[in-house]
Amino acid sequence: MSFQALQALAGGLSTDRSGPVPIAQQPHLSQQSPSLALRCAAKADAGEIERLVRDSGVLDVNSLYAYLLLCDHFGQTCLVAERASGEPGAADGLAGFLTSYLPPAKPGVAFVWQVGVADWARKQGLAKRLLGRLIGLPELAETRYLETTITDSNLASRRLFTSFAEQIGASVRNDTGYTTADLGGEHEAEKLYRIGPLPADRSPFKEL
Ligand SMILES: CC(C)(COP(=O)(O)OP(=O)(O)OC[C@H]1O[C@@H](n2cnc3c(N)ncnc32)[C@H](O)[C@@H]1OP(=O)(O)O)[C@@H](O)C(=O)NCCC(=O)NCCS
Repeated sequence: MSFQALQALAGGLSTDRSGPVPIAQQPHLSQQSPSLALRCAAKADAGEIERLVRDSGVLDVNSLYAYLLLCDHFGQTCLVAERASGEPGAADGLAGFLTSYLPPAKPGVAFVWQVGVADWARKQGLAKRLLGRLIGLPELAETRYLETTITDSNLASRRLFTSFAEQIGASVRNDTGYTTADLGGEHEAEKLYRIGPLPADRSPFKEL
């Protein structure tokens, strides 16, 4: 992956045959949710995350207690996006979130559990920005692969992860994840997506 490709995701320059193109001339990159700030999740975010999950109508809604544990114990690998306080719309709640953790039995892997973006913040690059920031976190410095599971029917999620992989120059490998039987017989199968190897130089992602 070229340094320019990294910069593109980081909101810098991208490549084209005639050389780097300034960000202002690339609508798809310059629309990357610029007014939203990203930070690691804290205990107080659990309720808002659960609300976003519920509102999505797509994600499995887990208990508030589960989100509380994630934010409290794994907050350093979970992210939220919000408007700065005092800005218009700041009271509308979180714009988006990403939950992930480092599975102890899989060194070098970060598992992305759920990503959700509020209706009003969608299709502006926020989910991709959350993934970018995730791989720039110090906790993921030794992480070489992102894994997640996605149902075949979730086109937006498939596009999100494949597009992110393309943008950072990583491959995507599919595998059996959790079958319908694993999931109790009624839930659509969750296929495993493995993205990597991740770029060695994460510096462009730290400030996303
Ligand atoms: C999936 C979701 C997180 C995407 O958030 P977002 O901020 O709108 O996504 P982005 O703007 O970063 O777009 C990422 C890529 O996905 C594509 N995409 C986003 N929404 C899409 C949709 N509804 N259908 C098809 N592609 C879609 C974008 O075009 C983009 O690809 P590109 O850069 O190649 O054009 C959001 O739609 C959501 O919260 N959905 C409900 C919850 C969910 O399904 N979460 C994922 C599973 S954990």
